[in-house]
Amino acid sequence: MQAHKVVVVGAGLMGHGIAQCAAQAGYQVRLWGMNRAELESALQKISSSVAKLHAKGKIADPVDAVLARIAHETELDQCTRADIYIETVVERLDIKHQVFRTLARVAPASALLASNTSTIPIGRIAAGIDSPQRCVGMHFTSPVPLMPVAEVIRAQATSDEAFERALAFVRSLGKEVIQVHKDVPGFVFNRINLPSNVEAIRLLEMGAASVVDIDKAMRLGFGRPMGPFETADMVGLDTGYNALSSLFAETGDEKFRPPLLLRRKVQAGELGRKTGRGWYLYNQAGERTGVAELPKE
Ligand SMILES: NC(=O)c1ccc[n+]([C@@H]2O[C@H](COP(=O)([O-])OP(=O)(O)OC[C@H]3O[C@@H](n4cnc5c(N)ncnc54)[C@H](O)[C@@H]3O)[C@@H](O)[C@H]2O)c1
Repeated sequence: MQAHKVVVVGAGLMGHGIAQCAAQAGYQVRLWGMNRAELESALQKISSSVAKLHAKGKIADPVDAVLARIAHETELDQCTRADIYIETVVERLDIKHQVFRTLARVAPASALLASNTSTIPIGRIAAGIDSPQRCVGMHFTSPVPLMPVAEVIRAQATSDEAFERALAFVRSLGKEVIQVHKDVPGFVFNRINLPSNVEAIRLLEMGAASVVDIDKAMRLGFGRPMGPFETADMVGLDTGYNALSSLFAETGDEKFRPPLLLRRKVQAGELGRKTGRGWYLYNQAGERTGVAELPKE
């Protein structure tokens, strides 16, 4: 079945990026956000990203044409009649669960229900709804419009048809797909990536090397485009912390235990680029201006 209409639930970093990619690919998108201010900020970011991509010749459609395909909404109950729903709310099982229960009620019975969770098994998010066969994981990475890949995860109850539809949708956005056939917490990306982020913070806690040098080590030594602290500032320290907490809770594995230093930074509201201070400091224009001092204890 050809999908035309997509609902994206959550208008934060991932939600607006996924909405943008779907609209660029020609889908009619409805973006749900908690309030008007969040939606306005999301549309502003989409507009500026599309303008840059269009100016560089990476996408054919200008801003107006892409924005014309994105409607916005603050009432989830109104998000009916779509083919694909993609949930991108905060990394908390209780909240995702609640969103999925609402979607199962308001979405057509034939719709695909996807979660962009970083770490939580899809079967847990879909638990308790009466149609778990149509639920999949669809895990994009940030910044969504620039990253060329996403992982698609099948839970035990996911039907072959739902899995195939999810694969086809991600490919229709021009992205490569990593197929994940087991609903393990953290899937492939974060199962591998998060322990290295934990280790980077532990090295910092030990005083073994600086933020700048650890980032440089991973960029120049391993060819990564960004180091772990630069990436964490873009992703959001709170989002990284929630992902680790959830992975640690799901697995009990010490390698995923969130470091105390990360918790302190999140408690202090040092969340990365979005607050102007994370591992690095940023000015109003979003340019990096220095390295943030570490909390005293
Ligand atoms: N940031 C990344 O790089 C990244 C990458 C891959 C996956 N993810 C995952 O995507 C999801 C969203 O991450 P993000 O970076 O976009 O976060 P974000 O903080 O930018 O956005 C979170 C969204 O959740 C909504 N929200 C907050 N509390 C809510 C509630 N009680 N009920 C309903 N909605 C609520 C917010 O309004 C916002 O729309 C998380 O599951 C995260 O783990 C994030």
